[in-house]
Amino acid sequence: MRQKIVAGNWKLNTTVQEGVELAKAVDTIVAEQGAEDVVVVLGVPFTHLTKVAETVNTERIGVASQNCAAEAKGAYTGEVSVSMIKSTGAKYVILGHSERREYYGETSETLNKKLALALEAGLTPIYCCGEALDIREAGTHNDFVVNQLEETVFQLSADDFKKIVIAYEPIWAIGTGVTASSDQAQDMHANIRAAIASKFGEEVAEGTSILYGGSCNPKNANELFANKDVDGGLIGGASLKAEDFIGIINAY
Ligand code: G3H
Repeated sequence: MRQKIVAGNWKLNTTVQEGVELAKAVDTIVAEQGAEDVVVVLGVPFTHLTKVAETVNTERIGVASQNCAAEAKGAYTGEVSVSMIKSTGAKYVILGHSERREYYGETSETLNKKLALALEAGLTPIYCCGEALDIREAGTHNDFVVNQLEETVFQLSADDFKKIVIAYEPIWAIGTGVTASSDQAQDMHANIRAAIASKFGEEVAEGTSILYGGSCNPKNANELFANKDVDGGLIGGASLKAEDFIGIINAY
């Protein structure tokens, strides 16, 4: 059975102190009210990883970095490697977020290096894909997203692919307050799962968690998560308040 996952992505928000407070609040509220069959992940800035991993019950809440270096080690000033991330207690790494692709020029080639390093280090990649508004309006979104997968995660072996989580995030829905409709989310998730089945077989496709991201909140999460191919969410803005985040965790 594939896992239900609700992952927060704090992006460029919170100081270390604020992050620890937020992590404490999430830890408490998840322990008291969190649906037990939902895996909870916090995607936090690099500077927060160790402290957040020390703060939460890591048996219950996984910690994720939001990126990693495309090299294992060496003279790459300002970069953070997978082994550094792993040594903080983090278990996940978010890769391929559209903000990284758009603002930092991440290509499929870069992402393939990061995916390989993350898997080798034993981190679980949460691999993001999704189309911009013009592609959605042109009606080529299904092919566009499958192509993103073909260039990257479909290059992995089936054994490695089984270790990753996919997050579908339509760019036009991220931080805009305009979420994909329940049907739009389900259609794309079914499209992604069918592509995985063609590449790796039905069993792998059925076992892959595919999360939805983009203006997901406690009010709309229930309808989105009710779809058979939506296995949870990657949550930006609404992960910055413990009360909103728990509302999404418990939206199943
Ligand atoms: O990684 C999270 C997504 O980019 C969604 O962000 O929930 O603020 O729209 P959002």
